[in-house]
Amino acid sequence: MIVILATMVASMISPNFSTGLRVEAERIRLNLGSCAPIGLLRENADGGKYAVTLAREMNLVEPENELKPPTLWRGIGQYDYTNPDFLKGDPGHKGLAQKNHMKVRGHVLVYARDEGYTIPGWLLKSESSISSDQAKGILRDYIHTVAGRYKGKIAMWDVVNEAVDDSPNKRPFNLRDSFWFRKLGPEFLVLAFKYAHEADPKAELYYNDYAIENGGWKGESVLQIADYLKKEGAPITGLGLQYHTVLREVLRPGDGHYKMLDEIKARKLAFMITELDLGIPVKEYPTNDPRHGLLASSADLKSQAERYGDLFRVALSYKNCHGIQMWGFTDRHSWIPGYEPGRGAALLFDGDYQPKQAYFAVEKELKKAHR
Ligand code: XIL
Repeated sequence: MIVILATMVASMISPNFSTGLRVEAERIRLNLGSCAPIGLLRENADGGKYAVTLAREMNLVEPENELKPPTLWRGIGQYDYTNPDFLKGDPGHKGLAQKNHMKVRGHVLVYARDEGYTIPGWLLKSESSISSDQAKGILRDYIHTVAGRYKGKIAMWDVVNEAVDDSPNKRPFNLRDSFWFRKLGPEFLVLAFKYAHEADPKAELYYNDYAIENGGWKGESVLQIADYLKKEGAPITGLGLQYHTVLREVLRPGDGHYKMLDEIKARKLAFMITELDLGIPVKEYPTNDPRHGLLASSADLKSQAERYGDLFRVALSYKNCHGIQMWGFTDRHSWIPGYEPGRGAALLFDGDYQPKQAYFAVEKELKKAHR
């Protein structure tokens, strides 16, 4: 199956796209990526178009949910690697990503909040019987096992994701009240980075979060986390700015976005844009309708293209930008309509795999860029 799909991906590249975004990205040595649900690759979704488009346009891929602890971690010492192995291969073997010469971004070792999609329910249920020392051992074992299995196959890891709360609180760095915080205090941040580095010394290691792109109290909290990690000797490469964004978020020279990037640069850290998408109002279709999310206004699609172009231009003007990744590439498969009903059409290709204005805006910026 893997071989067949890899062959198809290599052989079915459309002649109309002899210059896709990937070609442009590689010219300027940019990691350009998308998340992907591994299931869509395994089942060769949409007559192969999903995998073909991904491999033609991107040189970086991140499993959307398959490397999150609740998906992978079935109990102490018990793991289900079926999906991640499809992408990265089991030890000693290649997966779909390597066969298509794509880098893989790992997401995520510690998703520092207590929800069903962030931490396994069985771990939360046994919380009262786990001491702090035991929690430290469990964290170490999990990170060593998972990051160790894919050692050398993951270019960069989100080591900690979304640890900062949605409104300010009295905890250090406005951290969320999460399992790992309750057991280990803010030191869980330091330990996670140290364990990840021990397991895979060559992987870049990121702290990743949302609603920090424009600075503000949350951006400031994340910068303080970065300072704390550095002071404690934790091997952090940089910050991941998720950039789930909206039309009203306009970038203007000197604004909060630029200041945040300047603050990161001043700390000699790298950054990546990790989950870019830009949902706009769409007429709602039932989720099983192939036109789902497609009916947006042409004015919004045009503004969306401008925002995409602006963000690529600004990000590429910083030498410490280690990559730009989107949270999907086709409006046919995007988390936005499920997350925010009435919004969608957030990505570069429409639901029929046709490039949108946003695609051409990004292509233009990549062609202009020198790095
Ligand atoms: C989302 C996925 O896209 C959904 O499929 C899942 O149901 C919930 O999580 N920030 C992150 C991602 O870091 O892991 C989230 O992914 C989107 C927000």
